[in-house]
Amino acid sequence: MPSRAAPKTHVLETTASDAAELSRQLLKAQEEERRRISRELHDETGQALMVLRFHLEMLGGEARSEEQKAKIQEALDVLDRSIEGLRRTIARLSPRVLEELGLVTAIRRQALLLAKHTGMKAHLELPEDIAPIDHDVEVALYRSVQEALHNLAKHSRASNFTVRLALTGNKVSLQIEDDGVGFSPRTAPERGFGLTGMRERAAALGGSMKVHSERGKGTHIRILLPWLTYGVRKNAAGSGRGSFRRATA
Ligand SMILES: Nc1ncnc2c1ncn2[C@@H]1O[C@H](COP(=O)(O)OP(=O)(O)OP(=O)(O)O)[C@@H](O)[C@H]1O
Ligand SMILES: [Mg+2]
Repeated sequence: MPSRAAPKTHVLETTASDAAELSRQLLKAQEEERRRISRELHDETGQALMVLRFHLEMLGGEARSEEQKAKIQEALDVLDRSIEGLRRTIARLSPRVLEELGLVTAIRRQALLLAKHTGMKAHLELPEDIAPIDHDVEVALYRSVQEALHNLAKHSRASNFTVRLALTGNKVSLQIEDDGVGFSPRTAPERGFGLTGMRERAAALGGSMKVHSERGKGTHIRILLPWLTYGVRKNAAGSGRGSFRRATA
């Protein structure tokens, strides 16, 4: 009688850290794509608009009537607004601002811009200077501030908001707090991608995000990340487990 051997099964195991690593790679690819789009907008669309501006200005100088002049000026005004909008889009897309200004100044600038555009009062608790942080962590912090401030402008109707960044031990903590209308976090994820994206970014880097919000009582978001990245890389020894990578930014 043939022996009943147990059927061979191939188990595809996906551990939490494999999933985090995959997520990290996806986020990296997304950042690279944003960077490419931002560069193309700058080098192609931006340059084309500047050439157009130059020609319009020349035409303005040659205009024979006041009416012609006024029309050209009107076109120049529309063009200037478009160039300004394009600049803002380029800056939003590219975390190049991080390399140019550094994380703390980039966060401060975002917060002050929000305060200026909405009339809310910004309270900033940011360190003067911080130790170099892993670039992926830095991008995650910057993108999270962008999204949280965007949400503040869109949903909170707050009068005050606080952005707090602190490096403690081997963790970096980012808190964004407002005194606005608040919401019920249980139903929120169904509505948009912003908070989910922030949570996924944090998890991909071995960190966490907590949201405390209540209707009428404002919103408090806390993100905790290791400022060194935990990367799961199949090393030559084939252990497949992770190793800590020193901050390199
Ligand atoms: N600071 C805040 N104050 C009040 N409500 C908020 C705040 N932040 C988020 N919310 C609520 O949580 C929901 C989910 O936020 P999330 O950023 O995930 O999505 P969204 O902003 O609606 O859309 P998306 O970010 O995809 O453009 C929002 O629709 C809003 O109701
Ligand atoms: Mg949002």
